[in-house]
Amino acid sequence: MTTLDRTIRLGGAVARCGQLRIPTGVAPAADPIPTGETPEDVTARLAAQAAGRLARYRRQRPAAYAAASLGDLGPNERAAIWRWLESDSLTLVITGPVGTGKTHAAFAAANWAAGQGTIPAAWTVPDLMVDLAPEGDPSAAHVTRTAPLLLLDDLGVEKTSEWRVEQITALIDNRLGNGLRQIVTANADYDALARRYGERAMSRLTARAGLVRLTGADRRRVTW
Ligand SMILES: Nc1ncnc2c1ncn2[C@@H]1O[C@H](COP(=O)(O)OP(=O)(O)OP(=O)(O)O)[C@@H](O)[C@H]1O
Ligand SMILES: [Mg+2]
Repeated sequence: MTTLDRTIRLGGAVARCGQLRIPTGVAPAADPIPTGETPEDVTARLAAQAAGRLARYRRQRPAAYAAASLGDLGPNERAAIWRWLESDSLTLVITGPVGTGKTHAAFAAANWAAGQGTIPAAWTVPDLMVDLAPEGDPSAAHVTRTAPLLLLDDLGVEKTSEWRVEQITALIDNRLGNGLRQIVTANADYDALARRYGERAMSRLTARAGLVRLTGADRRRVTW
């Protein structure tokens, strides 16, 4: 029985899998540190930050994926994601045709990480472009650059513009430079993404990346 099988059987009691490479929190330097705090103040501040991040993750996560779990996945996909979770690889790329379960698999991994206390942030790339814009969400730039795990759904479907490409490449650069992990889903193949974001960004993003290729039918489609 693999560790994952065991943790699935154990339900919520997965916190004891100690070798996971996911950082357990945002790098302390990422948030401004008020001076003159007592240790109790620091504990309370960190607890409030963690609660805020968890609330944000739950808001960002579409309801359809709230219960997504590694146990839903096929054995090969589950094993590949589990290997990545246990590895020190920074990026997991989930690809596949429309409706094959990319977002579900990505949230299954993110939900699992959240259950371990590694609170992810999650955006579709088109929504992120709106939030990063000057009139968007003022906290988006900080959260995307500091979250210990970032789920970027639908890379490559946003409309192309020089500004958007710059935003994505700078974000990738910044996160990889800080050793932070991301799960990226994409419908487009590597070459199409490289044409959009440039070879440099793609080469860095996919260096030693975990890769899950989903196949099969569109799970949403009713056929007749
Ligand atoms: N392993 C699974 N178990 C149960 N339901 C699943 C599973 N994978 C996907 N689904 C469900 O099938 C539907 C399509 O899955 P999902 O949205 O993940 O596909 P996708 O590949 O991300 O699609 P798109 O290419 O449009 O982004 C969703 O309702 C999702 O919850
Ligand atoms: Mg999707």
